[in-house]
Amino acid sequence: MTMLRVRDVGMRFGGLVALQGVSLDLNRGEILGLIGPNGAGKTTLFNCISGLLNPTEGGIFFEGRSLRFAPPHERARRGIARTFQNLQLWDSMTVLENLELPIDAAGNRNTLSDALGLPFSHYAERAAAERARAILHVLELDPFVNRLAGDLPAGIQRRVELGRAIAMRPKLVLLDEPAAGLDAGETEHLAELLRTVRERFHVSMLLV
Ligand SMILES: Nc1ncnc2c1ncn2[C@@H]1O[C@H](COP(=O)(O)OP(=O)(O)OP(=O)(O)O)[C@@H](O)[C@H]1O
Ligand SMILES: [Mg+2]
Repeated sequence: MTMLRVRDVGMRFGGLVALQGVSLDLNRGEILGLIGPNGAGKTTLFNCISGLLNPTEGGIFFEGRSLRFAPPHERARRGIARTFQNLQLWDSMTVLENLELPIDAAGNRNTLSDALGLPFSHYAERAAAERARAILHVLELDPFVNRLAGDLPAGIQRRVELGRAIAMRPKLVLLDEPAAGLDAGETEHLAELLRTVRERFHVSMLLV
């Protein structure tokens, strides 16, 4: 079944045509890579899919429904997560906290029961921590869980950002240049990790 359908998408910034006639289909469970030179419009396409930009032409459909009027948070709720070309982690939080926060935000927490210290919130907190640790383990980030994200090398930070995206229980993850700055061996290893992530967490991926 087609999960993501992009049809004849165009994006203009004033006189500059960043995207023109872009169409693609991504099926459930698929990992699809797009290639293009600098300035080809890869990040712009991701911005159109995640809702940071509205395409000036064409349509984008997720699980059969148009995304046209959906703001970014609704797309996230419907199952689209992403990483950024320029890393956007919470630098002064630990790796573990970077993953737990989106799990909480995804709706397992209830501020009132938290404030009252009700048992449910303890349960939710434990569940969030367990899921975060499972993701960190698959991404081979165990040695870094308590380190501040901002102190880690870029390659490790990229994996943390992927982990944070997966923490939101997405159906689709958009990865903007996850291999930037990696050598050939590290890139091959990342590819292996992505395949494991797909199997373990049942996510499709679009990467550039
Ligand atoms: N918000 C914006 N306003 C104006 N122009 C933009 C905007 N975003 C992107 N562009 C322009 O659109 C074109 C495509 O940029 P984009 O960043 O999508 O390319 P890219 O394929 O991701 O490139 P790179 O490989 O360098 O990451 C470029 O000419 C860029 O300058
Ligand atoms: Mg880009």
